[in-house]
Amino acid sequence: MVSFSNSPGLDFSFSPVGETGKGVTVEINNQILMETAYFNGTFTPNSEIRISPDDRGFLFADGIYEVVRWYQGFFYDMEGHLTRLKRSMKEIRLNWPDQDSFPDVAMELINLNNLQDIPSLVYLQVTRGAAKRSHAFPSPAIDPTVYAFARSFRPQAEMIGMGLGAIMKKDTRWSRCDIKSISLLPNILSFQDAIDAGCYECIFVRDGMITECAHSNIFLVIDGILYTHPESEYVLSGITRKNVLRIARQEAIPVRETAVSESRLNEISEAFITNTSFEIAPVISINNISVGNGKPGPVTMLLRNKFHDDIALLKSDYRS
Ligand code: PDD
Repeated sequence: MVSFSNSPGLDFSFSPVGETGKGVTVEINNQILMETAYFNGTFTPNSEIRISPDDRGFLFADGIYEVVRWYQGFFYDMEGHLTRLKRSMKEIRLNWPDQDSFPDVAMELINLNNLQDIPSLVYLQVTRGAAKRSHAFPSPAIDPTVYAFARSFRPQAEMIGMGLGAIMKKDTRWSRCDIKSISLLPNILSFQDAIDAGCYECIFVRDGMITECAHSNIFLVIDGILYTHPESEYVLSGITRKNVLRIARQEAIPVRETAVSESRLNEISEAFITNTSFEIAPVISINNISVGNGKPGPVTMLLRNKFHDDIALLKSDYRS
């Protein structure tokens, strides 16, 4: 079956736009065709890429990834994404000698797939390469496997702006959530639980404290103060999180990078999640209970508007 993903409601996939004829990714039974990807130093049709069954990414989830957003003219905070990519690799002792080529690879993927004028995401993943299965690192060291693709997606800003429901669950992940590891099983299972419950995100709680979500960071407003979990081994240092904190401080919103206890749930007047594709998404209910008055709150909307102003400014800088 050929599909151009068009489902109503929020679509979390990197979905084809399919309107302009440009940048269209054709899917057949969820297989991507007619797309140029990056694989181990070359740009090649996605459908022709062959990855070894002995790849350590496949066998052990021994790898890391990065996702950056293309705003029809520029990548948002590419420097931040490159820095995090390098940090993730360093933390797992993985060496990709061409790591600094990430911005050029991303740009080339946008160009080769005619995505210049289309909202897109670039995904890059680096694994420890293909070798006979052994827990120890291959010795002598082998080349990593590097795969990247660019895909259009629907930002769905209007729908996101109306607010999302979230569930809350025990954080069952490991203790190095600061590494953008491709090992995402707890995230996937929790996110699916959220979808099954008719919600769009799962908020994690570890030792009674709210950490982050299955694929986003979380911010909470209590008594006019904006809280988010501090950078630590229990959360990913989100690029959107970092920029939201910058904007909040510019706007003189009181900010505390302090973990909030799950027991304070009834004190929360506003909540929102942040990630590269959603930017800032209000959370209007948690476990079916309204947050505040059940509508996106003023702090959330101010930050959303300021974030969009930032993007608009960057767009005009790019055009001039
Ligand atoms: N996820 N926390 C987790 C667990 C995440 O997976 C993500 C992003 C974030 C937000 O990070 P950033 O603002 O840099 O996107 C926080 C991406 C979008 C993904 O896995 O597709």
